[in-house]
Order: sequence, then C-alpha cells, then structure tokens
Amino acid sequence: MFTARPITFLKPCRAGSPAALIAPQLGGRRAGRRREVRGRPASTVRAVISSDDRSVGTVPSQVKLGSAGAPSQAVPEGQAIEVRAVVTIRKKMKEKLMERIEEQWDSFIHGIGQGILIQLVSDEVDSETKSGKRSTEAAVMGWLPRPTEQPYIVEYTADLTVPPDFGRPGAILVTNVHSKEVFLTEIVVHGFSQGPIFFPANTWIHSQKDNPSKRIIFSNQAYLPSQTPEGLKDLRQDDLISLRGDGKHERKKYDRIYDYAPYNDLGNPDKSEDLARPVLEGEERPYPRRCRTGRPPTKSDPFSESRIEKPHPVYVPRDEGFEEIKEGTFSAGKFKALLHNLIPLMVTALSGSDNHFACFSEIDNLYKEGVILNPSEHQAAKKFMLPGILKNMMKIREPLKYDLPSIVSRDKFSWLHDSEFARQALAGVNPVNIERLREFPIVSKLDPTIYGSPESAITKDVIENELNGMTVEEAIKQNRLFILDYHDILLPFIKRMNSLKDRKAYASRTIFLSTGTGSLKPIVIELSLPSSISPRRKRVYTHGHDATTLWIWRLAKAHVCSNDAGVHQLVNHWLKTHACMEPYIIAAHRHLSSMHPIFKLLHPHMRYTMEINALARQSLINGGGIIEECFSPGKYAMEISSAAYKSLWRFDMEALPADLIRRGMAVEDAAMPCGIKLVLEDYPYADDGLLVWSATKDWVHDYVTHFYPDHPNSVSSDVELQAWWDEIKTKGHPEKRNEPWWPNLETREDLETILTTMMWTASGQHAAVNFGQYPFGGYMPNRPAHMKKLIPEEDDPEYEKFLENPQKAFLTSLPTQLRATQLMAVQDTLSTHSPDEEYLGELPQSHSNWMNDQRIRTSFEKFSARLEEIEDIIKKRNRDLRLKNRTGAGVPPYELLLRSSGPGATGRGVPNSISI
Ligand SMILES: [Fe+2]
Repeated sequence: MFTARPITFLKPCRAGSPAALIAPQLGGRRAGRRREVRGRPASTVRAVISSDDRSVGTVPSQVKLGSAGAPSQAVPEGQAIEVRAVVTIRKKMKEKLMERIEEQWDSFIHGIGQGILIQLVSDEVDSETKSGKRSTEAAVMGWLPRPTEQPYIVEYTADLTVPPDFGRPGAILVTNVHSKEVFLTEIVVHGFSQGPIFFPANTWIHSQKDNPSKRIIFSNQAYLPSQTPEGLKDLRQDDLISLRGDGKHERKKYDRIYDYAPYNDLGNPDKSEDLARPVLEGEERPYPRRCRTGRPPTKSDPFSESRIEKPHPVYVPRDEGFEEIKEGTFSAGKFKALLHNLIPLMVTALSGSDNHFACFSEIDNLYKEGVILNPSEHQAAKKFMLPGILKNMMKIREPLKYDLPSIVSRDKFSWLHDSEFARQALAGVNPVNIERLREFPIVSKLDPTIYGSPESAITKDVIENELNGMTVEEAIKQNRLFILDYHDILLPFIKRMNSLKDRKAYASRTIFLSTGTGSLKPIVIELSLPSSISPRRKRVYTHGHDATTLWIWRLAKAHVCSNDAGVHQLVNHWLKTHACMEPYIIAAHRHLSSMHPIFKLLHPHMRYTMEINALARQSLINGGGIIEECFSPGKYAMEISSAAYKSLWRFDMEALPADLIRRGMAVEDAAMPCGIKLVLEDYPYADDGLLVWSATKDWVHDYVTHFYPDHPNSVSSDVELQAWWDEIKTKGHPEKRNEPWWPNLETREDLETILTTMMWTASGQHAAVNFGQYPFGGYMPNRPAHMKKLIPEEDDPEYEKFLENPQKAFLTSLPTQLRATQLMAVQDTLSTHSPDEEYLGELPQSHSNWMNDQRIRTSFEKFSARLEEIEDIIKKRNRDLRLKNRTGAGVPPYELLLRSSGPGATGRGVPNSISI
C-alpha cells in the first residue's frame, strides 16, 4: 500500500493563496529550493483557465523548462516555477439528503474544494529521498465558474510552486480530506514549458477517513515498464500492489482491490436446501474466476460464500461500478422487470394457477393493449410489497406494454417458417453454433458405457430424401449440409432437467441443407432422451406434408429453439463473453499499470463488466434466479455452463476467424483479408463480424507496433505484460492453465492476436449475441426458453387431445404467461443501451486526453473512420436482394454489428465493453 513520503524541499503553500500565472507577476521573484514563495495580491490574478482555454496563459514567459524538464537557458538560475493545477470533479447528479448535508458540512469545515490536497511528483529522482521529486502539497481551492451544459462538472484550482530543476511532473498524489468520496475526472497542470500536462483520472478518490493512503494519478504519457522514468518507478509499483490487495478481509465499498474467487456465491444453502448450488471450481466443475468479495462462508457449507441480497450491492472495485446515468437505466430496467414479473404473479395469486396462453392473440395483446391492472389487485400489491411508484401506476391503471419485437413486426408469421428458423442460425441472436457437416454418420463423443450407442438415428436415407438425387457424401463434399448439434452438451443433463416441474427437454440435432440460393432449410431434427428414461430414446422428425406431421414438426422445432435459447444464454452469452472477460480485467488491473500502453488500450473494453457480472450473480444466474426460472436447465443451468467450459472453451478459438474455421464455416484462404473464406457467402454474423474483427486487428497492429520496439525481446521482456498473461491462465482460468492451446506471448504478433481476441469478445461478439435478445426472444413462441411437454406419440393419452386441438397442444407446451412475461422483461432490459453507452471507435469527452501521443491518436481516428465505412458496407449489404438472409419479404435486416446506436433496445450498436 502506498503511503505518503515526506516533503523535502518546500514548506506547504499557504492555503488559499491566489494564483499568479502570467509573467509580470513572476518577474524578478525567486524562490529557490526549500524556500516558500509568498502569495500574491488577488488583484494580480488575470489568467483564468477553463477547460475551453487550457493552452492560454499557462507558461510564464520568463520561466521555461527544457524539453526534458531541465531548465533551459532562458531560466534564471534558481527561479521557482509557479504552476496551476485545474482539478475537474464530477458531482453526483442526484444527491441524497444526507449527502447534501455532509457536503455542506465539508464546505463549512474545509472551504469549497479545499478538502482535496494534491502534490506533484517529478519524473526525476530527488537525490535525498531516492524517490521522485515532490512539490509542496497544495489544497485545491476556488471554484471556476463557467458556462457548462453539465452543471454537475466543477473545476477547482490549486497553485503550486516547484524549483526550476523539478523536471516534468509524471504523477500527482491526491488526498481527499472530505468525509465522503469524490469523483475526480482529470487534473491538468499548467505552467511547464511543455504546455498543459494532462492527468486523466476518471476515478473515485476515497475519503482519507476510510483509507489514509494517497491516490496516485499518472499523466497520460504511456510507458512500458522498462521505460518508466526513474522518479515514477516506485509509484508504479506501489499502485499495482495496492490494487492487488492482500487477499484477506471482506471488501468495503470504497476499496479498489482486484482479486479472484471461484463461483461459490450462487447458491443460498442457509435459506433452503433446494437453493444449494455446487461450487464451480476444480476438475469436475471448472469455471473462470470472478471478483473476490471476501464475504464470510455460509453456515451450511463452508465452501460457499454467503449471499448478499438486493438492494445491498455486491462488491466490485469502486471504479467498476455503474455511473449514475447507467445506474438509472439499469434500475429502470429492474423496475420494469419487477413490474412485468409481478403481473403474472398477481394473476397466479388471484387465480391460484399460472396459466398458459390460450391462443396466439393473447400473446399479441401483450404488445397491443398491454396489461391493465384491476383495482382488486391493490391487495396483491400489498402482499408483494410494491414500491410506491408501482402502487401509483396501479392506481392510475396504466397499461403495461412491450414494443413489438422485430421478429414479428414485419411478418407476424415468419417465425413459423422453416426458412426463418434456418435464417436465425446464421443471422439471429445465436449465430455461433451452426457447423458444416463434415462427417457421416453423426457420432456422439459421449461415453457409450453411460449414454449408449454413440450413433445418431439420422440415417442416410432420411437425408437423401431431401437431396434430389444427390448422395450424402456428395452433399458433404459440396459443403451443402450443416448441423446445429446440442446432443452432447445436453444429454448428460436431460434426465435431471426433465425431473423438474414443468420442464421437458431433449438433446437435439438439426440438419440443414444449403438450397443453393444462399439460404438454408432444415431437413431433419433428431430428438434424444437418455436410454434410461424411455425406450424411444432417439426420434427423427422431418417437416412432412400432412397436417399432423406439420404440427409435430413445429413442436420439434420449438424444442430445438428452446435448446438454442438455453445454450445461447448459458454458454455463448454468459460464459464465453461475460464470465470469460472478467479474469482478463482482474489481471489487467493487478499487473498492468495505468501508465502501461496496453492497459490504456484495453481500458475502454473493460468498462462496467465486473459490475454487470456481479449483478448477474445476484439476480440472474443465482440459485432460484431468473435464468433458472425461465430456461430449460432450471437449477442445473450453471452446471451446464461449466460443462461447456470444460469441454468446449479454449482461448485460441475465441478469435472469430479461428472459430469459423473450427466450425467448418470458413476455410483458410491467404488471398482473403482475414486469411479465411466463408463457406456460406451469405452468413451475416460472420460476414459483418469479419469486418469488425479486421478493423480491430489493424488498430491493434498499429498500436502494438508503435509501442513495442522492433527487437526480438520487446514483448517477452515486458514484465508487467508477462505477469498479466501468466495470471490470466493460472489464476483466472486455473483449471485450464496447463492446456497446450494457450497462445504464447513472445512476439508482437502474439500480442496482437491476444488483444484482438479480447477486444472482439468484449465488443462485436458480445453485441452479436446480446442485443438481439429482445428482437428475437421478445416474441416467446419464436424462442421459448423452455418446453413443458415432450412431443406426444401415437400411444400417448395426450395424442388424441393433440389431434383435436393442435394449437392448444402447442401453446400448452410453451412457457406460461408468468414465465414468458418474466423473460420478456429481462430480455428487454438486457437488450437496452444506456444513454452513456460508449461505442466501438468512439472517444467519450471524459477520456479525450487519455493519450498524449499524436501518432496513436491518428491511428485511432483511422480505426474510427474504418468503422464508419463498415457501417455503410453493412447497410449496403442489408439492401442487397441477393442476400436472402438479410433481405426479402418480412425479413429484418442484420443490424447487430452496426457500430452505432441510440439508447434503448434498438437491435443494433457495438459498445466497447460488456456492460449489460
Ligand atoms: Fe450481455
């Protein structure tokens, strides 16, 4: 932990001394080492520096430093330099009453702004302390009034005096004497010959009463560890040590400690045995690590961490928390979820049963008319302890409506069509499981001694019925057959899943035929049960032409969609983006200094991820949480996620081109931009994704080439970088640490691939599998999250009822109104962009001074311009009538990889990071 070092050369400035920033006031005055410079009369202060005028009047004409910080010839020997620091603080938009009182008390005690002390630290070493030279510690004072569109941004100033041989300041030590934390946006130091020196912060500064350590804010000059100026070396180290913590104690809200823990906080065995969940750790149930909170173990299970329930927050390092504007949106979303969750609950409470939809028009009414609450439900409101605002809504009988999801907004019946079912495997919310069929017969990799014969029931004849005279071998050779295979991932869990109330699932395989026009059609579905459940363990379905076969086919497709929804949510969305990113982020903060160029590159791609993951552990993926309630696997959901991690996840395959090759959806082709050629030209996710991947890779290449010298050891000798990569493997993904597929990190090319993979995962990949949740899943029949019944067979008692009313049989197999509306609310929230979203290639105003390197800024502008071009290319593709998976009657365009978006559930927009 960093602690303040003694000031050696100057006495502290007198608090409240006015600033003098222009030459006449400095002329003739001298302040040598260990001499205090007296304050000047207020009337001499002329230069007022605001953020709009930061380069004006900042350098005293008679006091100049050379480019390396050494006095230039123009500097009279011994001449002190007076500098001004402009400190930008962001105030809370909505302060609670108690906070307002505290602030007023602080103002009274310390004067406005004066509860913050700052001290400059030079790049150069003080020969006495052997540490960076330090200025006096000055109190931040005086508010600079300026017209602003953001009334909650305020600027303060601090005036400091440094000796002429001070050198260039590379860090600022900040002490917050206020009783509450302060959000420091930036400090700009004026007065040195280099011009303004920027210290981007965007960080919460803890109160001294919570933690006496000073905070270290580095300038925006990036340094590899070996390039660190002598005066900053110890601070660089101290800051990282404080971020790592000591692995002990329960974390406090104000901490900024990044450490690892296993997923052992999902269950609540103290509350109920039924809510106990296994710890996801070790050989049997491996999983990436999450952020350590240090909460005590449960009473019932010493290996499980005790829960912390809403509204109390789960610890994340202070700067990982949502900013207020995002908080508002997520809260609104949570509120909405509660609301929509509650309505069916109330229906249940009043009617005593949770109803299925009686007809499709009842589902339509959710969007058309919404739900009007009855006065009698005030009773229920009390029962469920509704917040006041909800009670008010109930009083005014405001209907609760959802927007029409895009899957039904253009064509109400498209979801019933085989073409749409297939199209969504290439351009829906889960376009990452489809594979080219490369071998026949299809064989399971599961242990035959446990799961029986590994051969699929899909025979050659069944497929060849659809091939117009072609053999299966010929179709495979011509890349005409594709498969969506959820057999091996689900079969080991089916027996347990089907023992849950209202859950009936199969392990499924679906074969698609490429029609030759670019579109696919499903030709056969195999649904399997474990042999111990039923002698009919493998059933094969085709679409047929008679009414009965067609309805059965629809039910089979619904089961496939349900499996697809579960694998999408638990594996492709949660595990492979949210959960796998978290260890990269933890390791980055623990081992890459904020002055490390790679930290600066990754920083925008790490925003909010730890916070949204913590919220998910609290409310979504926890035992009894919404994911368990809504999706087929129920209480086994996270065990399936762990099984997928164990058998499928590998870092090197998270690179888009590698993933496409692995699935057979592309072949290597050195002539193509990414070195691969798509097997299906009209594969919107892959086609657009490769553009974003490629642009990201080019940007990373420019960046890495700039910062790493062209010699063989520049990457391998970067101690911080190597420690970061090593810890990702050993502590972040410990069960996978010995896998041979981890890329080496020896060369610049290695580094570029690793970084591009992470940045793609956080941006394009997450966007592709996240923001389509409501557009595709908001209409429940298109993606039922679970099924309640197996498909009726001829000898079932249910079969007669099915023949009599197939629509009813279909609807009663789907989730109930409660579950459907619950999931709609959650998917709507999870598909929503916050108003403060930061999109790929954009630089928010608050980070405009993130880097002082003009060449990098130019490269970033190039990246940004390329992403704009890509947006135009995608829009053009979406108008190309030859591309059947993007255009056509009632077909929604593929917009999930369009970079820009407005706020809300827009079905487009690629944020920098995983924040929802
Ligand atoms: Fe997400």
